[in-house]
Parts: sequence; structure tokens; C-alpha cells
Amino acid sequence: MNLDKRYLIWALGFAAVGLALGIYMAASHNHAELVAHAHILLIGFVLSFVYGIIHRLWLEKPSRAVANIQFVLHQAAAITVSVGLFLLYGGFVPESKLDPVLTCPVVSSEGTLFSRASTKELSREKEA
Ligand code: HEM
Repeated sequence: MNLDKRYLIWALGFAAVGLALGIYMAASHNHAELVAHAHILLIGFVLSFVYGIIHRLWLEKPSRAVANIQFVLHQAAAITVSVGLFLLYGGFVPESKLDPVLTCPVVSSEGTLFSRASTKELSREKEA
């Protein structure tokens, strides 16, 4: 399956989870999980969707290895951030235990932006 479709499917999965959490917060009048809700939707749904669009519209033949690494890294980081923030803001696990976990995926997430840039550069070089 092409990477644009894979990103789209994952984006819709995150949308379902994030929206369900939003609906739960609205129905229960308990907004404690708003940070988890916002990050599931913005990192999981919006960013995956944007990456999918970039693949569909601009990346004709990206390096398969780099693109696959970026895909796995982004989804792993998005899941870790989502679960970590859910546990933190739900009061299930204390901040001291989650801090090392939550700072790691942020770094990997940034890393995906760099690999995105290099993938784009690679396909530009091929065009030239
Ligand atoms: C069924 C749809 C949705 C429901 C029921 C819902 C519900 C909620 C609720 C109850 C809050 C907490 C508000 C507060 O306490 O200030 C919230 C915050 C938030 N939601 Fe949603 N939401 C939905 C869709 C979305 C979508 C599609 C996005 C983005 C793609 C989104 C992004 C955010 C953000 C960024 C916040 C934090 C806002 C702030 O800090 O004031 N939500 N949402």
C-alpha cells in the first residue's frame, strides 16, 4: 500500500480516538483530558493527514527506506505522546514517571520533520 494511503488510514484512526475522547469530555462535563484530546487530533490526525497530502501531491519517488522510517517514527511518537498524555492528565500515572517517556517522542517527532525535509531534497535532486 502506498504511503499516502497508509498516512490517511492512520490519520482517520487517530481522528476516531481523539473525537471519541472529545465527545466523552463534552458529555461528562469533565475536561481534564483536553490536552490529550488536542494532541491526539493535532499530532495524530492533522499531522498524519498533512504528511499523506505531501506524499500524494509532491513526493513522486521518495527514498523508500527514509519514508518508511519517518512513517514508523511519526506513528510511534504520536501513539506514545497520546497514551502518555492520557495517563498523565487522567491522573493514572504521576508526572515524575512519565517525564522521560514524554520528552523522548517529542524529540523523535522533530526528527521526522528533518527526515521529511531530506526526503524532499532527495526527490528534488533526482528531478534536477
Ligand atoms: C466531536 C468533535 C469534538 C468534540 C466533542 C470536542 C470537545 C472538546 C472539549 C470538551 C474540549 C475542552 C474545552 C475546554 O475545556 O476548554 C476540547 C478542546 C480542544 N479541542 Fe476538541 N473537540 C472536538 C473536535 C476537535 C478537533 C477536530 C480538533 C482539532 C483537529 C480539536 C482540538 C481541540 C483543541 C486544540 C482543544 C484545546 C483548546 C483549549 O486549550 O482551549 N477538537 N475539545
